[in-house]
Amino acid sequence: MHIAILTSGGDCQGLNAVIRGIVRASADHGATVTGYQDGWKGLVQDKKISLHDGPDIDRLLLRGGTVLGTGRMKTADFTRCLDVIKDNLAAAKVDVLIAIGGEGTLKGAKWLHDNGVPVIGVPKTIDNDVDSTDFTFGFDSAVAIATDAVDRLHTTAESHKRVMVVEVMGRHVGWLAMQAGMAGGAHDILIPEVPFNIDEVCKRMSRRFAMGETYGIIVVAEGVEPVEGTFDMGEPEYDSFGHRKLEGIGAKIADIIGARLDIDVRSTELGYVQRGGTPTAFDRVLATRYAVNATRAAMNGNVGSVVVLRGEQIELASFEEAVGRLKTVPQSDIDSMTALLG
Ligand code: F6P
Repeated sequence: MHIAILTSGGDCQGLNAVIRGIVRASADHGATVTGYQDGWKGLVQDKKISLHDGPDIDRLLLRGGTVLGTGRMKTADFTRCLDVIKDNLAAAKVDVLIAIGGEGTLKGAKWLHDNGVPVIGVPKTIDNDVDSTDFTFGFDSAVAIATDAVDRLHTTAESHKRVMVVEVMGRHVGWLAMQAGMAGGAHDILIPEVPFNIDEVCKRMSRRFAMGETYGIIVVAEGVEPVEGTFDMGEPEYDSFGHRKLEGIGAKIADIIGARLDIDVRSTELGYVQRGGTPTAFDRVLATRYAVNATRAAMNGNVGSVVVLRGEQIELASFEEAVGRLKTVPQSDIDSMTALLG
């Protein structure tokens, strides 16, 4: 059995742990592993390296990022490059390709599988928005980093009697903002699932100060949207992949609160710090379990599937189940989140 792997999309903590897990589990099964570099592009350009179990691979468990490199590929390029991809995999005698990535990567993997390439998916992302799995690796590490930042902002906010607006990642969903905000005891949390009204945000903070509190923390997901007509978001701009450029909504919200209330307001954008560095213990274990089970699925010929965590169990879902829709924060969690705000 010859397994090929690639990592694609934005990086996160735990990618290297999956690479290590697949190489070690494959060695156990007598299978060989090739790694394509820089995501899908490496597969098209046939940029690959052999991965062998040994000290270099073993050391990957703790290491952030991905030693294979990553990148994105446009949907149109999949169609254009299908034959090249098939030829490259056939020439290398690859039996199964394991694609490790988020929603975009898994959609690409599904398309390839639908077009005759044997693919298995491993879900990652700090956003935790892949459906069919309770958790993607990277999420727990990002929550830990964002929570630590919120914890630290409490002391400086209290000392200066300020409102601190903290912008965290989360383009489409608010899992990270919700968990970091709840864990950090934030006084307001804005997530994409609930359009925000800036008047209400100001009212909530003003009420808090009127009750004698001297500072406030507001956690904002980068992808929040206002209730229509209540906030000027400016003209949307898009990158070459058609993703809207997110232009620091936290700072804009901070400016408005500062201008409307007689309170000193500052903003902090956590940005890529949330994706960097070593994975938490939870993410190392999850990444390793995904790796072992993806390898087993490859050995068993379960192509067209994605390894997922359901409750305590690692199971296999179909690509349709995993990429059919985004996993958003459910109303019951939104209710728990809002119960203690203010
Ligand atoms: O990993 C997901 C994510 O962190 C989003 O929350 C964010 O919008 C995006 O990646 C940014 O990634 P990049 O700038 O690498 O495209």
